[in-house]
Amino acid sequence: MAARINPSILSADFANMQRDLERISTADYVHVDVMDNHFVPNLTFGPQMVERVQATSPVPLDVHLMIEDPDRWAPQYAELGCFSVTFHAEAATAPITLARTLRKLGARAGIALSPKTDVGAYLELLPEFDQVLVMTVEPGFGGQSFLPHVMPKLTALRQAATRQGTDVWLQVDGGVTLDTITIAADAGADTFVAGSSVFGADDAGAAIAGLRSAASAHLH
Ligand code: DX5
Ligand code: ZN
Repeated sequence: MAARINPSILSADFANMQRDLERISTADYVHVDVMDNHFVPNLTFGPQMVERVQATSPVPLDVHLMIEDPDRWAPQYAELGCFSVTFHAEAATAPITLARTLRKLGARAGIALSPKTDVGAYLELLPEFDQVLVMTVEPGFGGQSFLPHVMPKLTALRQAATRQGTDVWLQVDGGVTLDTITIAADAGADTFVAGSSVFGADDAGAAIAGLRSAASAHLH
């Protein structure tokens, strides 16, 4: 299996979104960071923008909701037909109910853990989710440095998934570069979000290919 590389359009040029979606047409999924200025101190897109990105992108969307009250707001992203919808554990009131709703609406359901959030409570709940997103920066902004101290969470998730025979995807998000991606792959990640390291490259396609091959050699 090859590593999945999901470029984050948080680092795209918002006035040239169609062009930038074409620059990353060899990606596995397009990572869309929805921020509400409450859960995180930054504001990005809402459902109307996501609907247009989905209609324009040749690659399916991996939506990362950094918002309060995802129990209320997440289902509409699944209704748009987004491939996966990930909400934060710290923000959800009833995460299992919400994950079941997202799946019923046809999306893959993901749960995200901020750096300070412990993974223990989720290890036995993996069958309820299609993916777990382990944040390797504090959520809110692109271009921050990878936090290696969260790697034990990935190791614990990989061990639990293997023990349970669960095909859950383990995603890392934040500070992923050619230097850090192998650390995350070694720890157990199989899906890698990269914003600035893809869009900051002259050739985004080459950056995606480079990340994919570096990580693939280190997958479990
Ligand atoms: C941060 C977002 C990330 C961000 C990653 O809150 O969730 O997806 O775009 O950007 P880089 O790869 O630049 O750290
Ligand atoms: Zn993200």
